[in-house]
Amino acid sequence: RGLLRLVELHTDTHGLLDVDSLDELVPDLAERPTYACGPAGLLDALEAHHEARGLVLHTERFRPVVLAAPGEGGTVTFADGREVAADGATPILDAAEEAGVLMPSGCRMGICMGCVLPMKEGAVRDLRNGALTVAVPGETDPAGVPIQTCVSAPAGACSVDHS
Ligand code: FES
Repeated sequence: RGLLRLVELHTDTHGLLDVDSLDELVPDLAERPTYACGPAGLLDALEAHHEARGLVLHTERFRPVVLAAPGEGGTVTFADGREVAADGATPILDAAEEAGVLMPSGCRMGICMGCVLPMKEGAVRDLRNGALTVAVPGETDPAGVPIQTCVSAPAGACSVDHS
């Protein structure tokens, strides 16, 4: 009945939505509340976009925002079910080997990439620069997010595939 205007954008053909294009897609955006649900990256971008413009935004998240503190540490679960606890200053590679888990490795200093394994879920922090890497099932690559275990410490619980 003309009450709604549906704008379809498909990632496969149009690429990811650029939130800056909203002003063009919805010319009266400033006069409307926005309701959004989707991957964390989209919601984060929308929140920044709307906050900068003072616009009303309602979001629905199916997962909490990851809040991992530096040096937090956590438990690493491997594909075979083994669990290894590591503090926030110990590389996953070291903690796993100390627990008897056979791990691929090389330089042990973040150069050769010989220790890279896919993280299926959770968060790790790069011990060199504090950068957080997050894997979220349903949002990040189903094959896992590659992490360098020799320079990464768990930031909360995480699952790593080493099979
Ligand atoms: S062992 Fe070389 S980058 Fe990790």
